Amino acid sequence: MSCSDDKIYICRCEEVTREDIEKAIADGATTLAGIKKRTHAGMGLCQGRTCSKLITRILAEHGIKPADVYPQTSRPPVRTAKIGDFVEEDDV
Ligand code: FES
Repeated sequence: MSCSDDKIYICRCEEVTREDIEKAIADGATTLAGIKKRTHAGMGLCQGRTCSKLITRILAEHGIKPADVYPQTSRPPVRTAKIGDFVEEDDV
């Protein structure tokens, strides 16, 4: 069994492959935010802690300096919570 480099997962959280990143770059993405917008890489549970360095490296292979790759905006995962989770029984 062989695996080409293009099928390697760069963003494990969102299952984005190197091929997806290359397509986004070909589509005009030159920053982490541009890659994120086109592929959802960096939108997973780790918020890009794992994949942002790999994406920066791929961008560098395309002549985009790491200093020119703007950091992506991180947003923590949102989960619903009941009001009761924040109030103790004595407060009611
Ligand atoms: S590996 Fe990309 S968001 Fe977690």
